[in-house]
Formats: sequence, C-alpha cells, structure tokens
Amino acid sequence: MGKTDWTQLWLTYHRVFEGNCTWETVLEGFAASDAVVSNALSEFKRGMDSIGCDSDSMTLKITKSDAVPAEGYSIKGDDNGILLEASDERGLLYGVFAILRQTACGKRAAEVNETASPSNPLRMMNHWDNMDGSIERGYSGESFFFENEEIVINDRTVDYARFMASIGINGVVINNVNVKGAASYLITDRYFDKLKELSEIFEGYGIKLYMSLNFASPIEIGGMDTCDPLDSNVISWWEKKIKEVYENLPGLGGFLVKADSEGRPGPFTYGRTQADGANMLADVIAPYGGIIIWRCFVYNCTQDWRDTKTDRARAGYDYFKDLDGAYHDNVILQIKNGPMDFQIREPVSPLLGGLTKTNQMLEVQAAQEYTGHQIDLCYLIPLFKEVLDFHTHCAPGKDTVADVVSGRTMGNRLGGMAAVINTGNDMNWTGDDLAAANTYGFGRLSFNTDLTAEEIAREWIRQTLNLPAKEEDILCSMLLRSREIYERYTSPLGIGWMVTPNGHYGPSVDGYEYSRWGTYHRADHLGIGVDRTDKGTGYAQQYYPENAKLYNDPHTCPEELLLFFHHIPYTWELKTGKTLIQHIYDSHFLGEEEARGLASDWDSIKDAVPEEIYTRVKERFDLQLDNAREWRDQVNSYFYRKSGIADEKGRTIY
Ligand code: GCU
Repeated sequence: MGKTDWTQLWLTYHRVFEGNCTWETVLEGFAASDAVVSNALSEFKRGMDSIGCDSDSMTLKITKSDAVPAEGYSIKGDDNGILLEASDERGLLYGVFAILRQTACGKRAAEVNETASPSNPLRMMNHWDNMDGSIERGYSGESFFFENEEIVINDRTVDYARFMASIGINGVVINNVNVKGAASYLITDRYFDKLKELSEIFEGYGIKLYMSLNFASPIEIGGMDTCDPLDSNVISWWEKKIKEVYENLPGLGGFLVKADSEGRPGPFTYGRTQADGANMLADVIAPYGGIIIWRCFVYNCTQDWRDTKTDRARAGYDYFKDLDGAYHDNVILQIKNGPMDFQIREPVSPLLGGLTKTNQMLEVQAAQEYTGHQIDLCYLIPLFKEVLDFHTHCAPGKDTVADVVSGRTMGNRLGGMAAVINTGNDMNWTGDDLAAANTYGFGRLSFNTDLTAEEIAREWIRQTLNLPAKEEDILCSMLLRSREIYERYTSPLGIGWMVTPNGHYGPSVDGYEYSRWGTYHRADHLGIGVDRTDKGTGYAQQYYPENAKLYNDPHTCPEELLLFFHHIPYTWELKTGKTLIQHIYDSHFLGEEEARGLASDWDSIKDAVPEEIYTRVKERFDLQLDNAREWRDQVNSYFYRKSGIADEKGRTIY
C-alpha cells in the first residue's frame, strides 16, 4: 500500500446494487452552507455513488423537525426516495450515515426505515497518543495526531472524523491521559493554531475536541511551586489559562484528568480530596460551557503482598463514594468497567450506580492491552454489553449500568461512554483488520445500547467485507466466540493478571504475583483466588446487598467470577461436577484447540476476502496459536506443579 492508501474500514462502500441513480437533495430548515450539513451531503453522494441504486432517479428529502429528539433521526424510504427528519445538524449527519449503513447492508431505498436517537449524551474516544508519535498501549502503528511533538493534520484526519461520525461518536480526547513533556504545552500558544484547525475539522463532523490535562500544569508550565487546588494563586493561574485556551479554541469540549494515579500528580499530594481537584477545574471552565471528566482510576500501586486487607479492587469506591454529591454539575467521573484494569473478565465496578448523585461515565478499552494486542482475535462487544446490562440494584426498574451512565437513573444531563481507542497509523488503522469490529462496535453500542453483539458484528462485516451469506456467518461466529476462547486459554474464572508484566502479552503466572501493583492471584499448593468476601478484603460489600450477598458466597457467586471473589481449593467441585484443578486444565486445553478452530475458520473463507486482508489476519492467527499454546502449557504446568494433582485425561503437561 502507498503512503496515502489507508483503508476506508466500514466506509468502504462496496457496490451492492447494479444501477446508478441520480439523487436530488431537498433541504427544508437546514442550511446547505453549514459545515456538518455539507459534509453529510457529500458523504451521501460519495456513498451512494459506489453502493449503487435500484432505480433511476430518487429524492433525498431532509426536513427539520422538532419532534425528533436531539441528535436523533428518522429515516423512511419509498419508491421515490428517502425522507430524513432531524431536529439538529448532528441528527441529520447520523441520519445520512444510517441510510448509508442500511443500503450498504443490502436494503433498497424503499426499505430504509429507522427512528433512532442516542442512548448516551456523550460517546467518546480516548486516544492514549503521545506527542512523540508513540501510543501508550497502541498495537497498530504510531499516532496519526502527533509526530515529533507537532500536531499532524491531513486527509487522514478528515477520514478519521468521518469514521467516528458514522458510528455516532461526538467527543474525542486526542492525547494520552498520562500528560507529560510536550503534551503539557497543548494548552499554550505553541499549539493553539493547529488545535483550532483540528477542532474545526471535528466540528464539521459533529465531534467536540477534548484534551487530557496535566493537573500539575501550574508547576510544569506555570513555574509555580504548587498545584494545590485550594491555593488562590493556583486558582487564578487556571482562570487565566482557561480563558486563554477558550479565546483560542472556542469549540473545546473540556478536559480529561488522570490525577493521583500511577505516579501522576493530584490533589492528594496537598491533602485535598478528589472533589477539591475536580471542582476547582470545573468552576474555572464552567463559564465557557466546558466539562471536566475526572478519572476514578486511583489506587495504591505499592501494595505489600503481606497486607491482605488492602485491595486494589476496593480503591475506586473507597476514594470516590464518600464524596458522592460533592462533585459539581459539569464534572463527570469516568469509571473503568471493572475495579481492576480491563482484564478479560472482571465484575462490574461497584462505583457504577454506587454513586447516585454524581455524573458518571463508563470507560472501556477497545485497545487490546490485556486482551491480545490486536494479534489474538478478541471481539469485545459481548464484554461491553455484559457491563451495560448489569443490574446494580441502585434504583428499581432503572438500575443497569446503561441506565446509570445514560442519565436515565438520575435524570442527569451529562454521562455516557468512553473507549480507549485501538487505532494507529497502520494503513488498516487497527493492526488486525478484525479489531476494527471493536472500534465500530463501541461507537454503535454507545449510540444504541440495545443493539446486540451479533447485530453489530453483522453490520460491521457487511459494510467492511460484504461477504456472501455463508462466509458472513462463519466470520460472525468467529467474532462472537473469540472473547471466551481468549479467556479460556489465558486466565479463566475471573483470576486475571497472569500476564507478562509491563507488556501485557503472553503468560507469566507469577509475573505480577511478585511485584508491587496489588494484582495478586494468591495461588499456593492448596488453592487459588483472592478472598474479597466479608472475611477477606470486604470488596464484595461495596455492592448493593443483592449483589453483595451473591458474590460473598462461593456457592452463589457466578462461577465465571469465582476466583475474583474467593480463595478456592483445587479440589473444590464446580457446577459442572469438575474439580477446580481439572477445570483449569480443561479450559486451557479447550481454549487452545478453539483458537486453532478460529484460524481454520479464517482459512475457510480465504477466497471471499481480499488477499491483503486475508494475509494480514492470517499472520496474526499464526501468532495467536503460538500464544495460546504458550498460555496453555505454562498455566497447566504451573498448576500441576503447585497442586501435585494430575490431569484426569492424562494429556501432556510439561
Ligand atoms: C493501565 C495501563 C496504563 C494506563 C492506565 C490508565 O494501567 O497499563 O498504560 O496508563 O491503565 O488507565 O491510566
């Protein structure tokens, strides 16, 4: 591929209909000169010209209608064309993309029909891009936003914005939450011109620009000796700074802040609370309509292994629950889906819905940090769905995480979903072509939390690859199976973490057991798992009573989370009648075998996919098989040697 030949992902617009028709566009109540409207109309033309049409001439009629909710649309086709109704420009844009999606998926214009509006007010992508061009936890090349400490803007930037708009994303944080070096200067005149240009491109696609902020900016760029959020000089410094920022970037959405976490500075340094820090910034930014998204990933990462009461899983709730209600209206707390760190399976964070008076946003990770580095296939939408559907028991009838973050539970205006995105400057954007299903899927799911993982997978396959029915079924099944397969050959039953430290790819059963991060599995010769019950760390008690009770008892605890909540003997009998140790062996043998099944399924659809894509993905499956084998062997061998109990089936364990 040449330097500018990046793929068009799900906006490839394969030909679906033989004919080409002329589309006349009629606008009522919208101005053709508006950037969003004009981008939507050119996208419509671009898409329809390639997808084709089954009639000679058609009309796309776009009408402004206050009956449609904000950012929503209603699209309805007949033999003469399609009527699109929306109440605002973003709704119009999403409506156009919905028409393109439906026709790309095979619907004739007359069959186009949908009424939709977003489930979540905020649907955001968080880039962990550094200004030197590297990406923290990036598995698909370098940043397309930054190079050598400069901001890069080119055609690719526009394509990125198109992709994001097509899945309903309305906010993008461009830089890593760990704000260091040049990134601290993004709020200075060194970068304002470029940022303005970028934010205008984004705005043309209904996307607001956000940035990660260095809480210690008053020290690092202001030359002060403190960043105490209650210090009046610090506050005036921020007032001046934010005024300057908004004079230059009037469209800025606000800031994302990682404070007091993994070495990042924060209010704790000055004996202040997280609310003191978040509210100070929120008050300063409020006059400009900005928001502060404050991450709850705060924990002690220097835990001593002898200390069995300190529990990293507890930390978020312990630090944030007491201050529920103290956060100002333009603060949103951004909470990772699980209490640890994006493992293949964790319980849902008890903070979600545990807070009842604070704006909340769910953070998930599309970047496959712990889930296979975009080498191993791992379609994450089933995991995201499980989190959204989880009943927190915080309020009768509207207690799921989807209810909480959308604002339905508390009637709040701000909330939503954010994903740590999995893109880079690789020509196919996501390294593994199949990983783009996670990028696509996150956007679609955040726009409509009722979609199923399968619906999303099929939409993505049709638009990206337009396969014949049989091949589509095979690929769809591969995606849907992949998460559990990955779980089986890595770390089942909620134990997590048996991964190579730092890099987070491949097995190292004790890698984290003997480090300071507080991510123990506590395996000994008798059993494995962390006691988080009322007799252990007490983490289970952070849930509402219904869930607390369920998790507290190993007999009622959902088995897929058993080792997250309990220290269990190897001889414990699981619901299948197998002992725990036998389950460990079986799961790892099965997972490895199923990974081979994925690879051979991919081979079976070879002729239906473009050769380049076939080859790129195939190379990854070869690596995935090595990885699965390695996991199987290391984990099985480790537990055989620890427990001294042999595999009932007598398979090879080294
Ligand atoms: C994980 C990840 C880090 C990241 C952090 C975060 O710990 O490994 O790279 O900075 O999460 O979410 O802030």
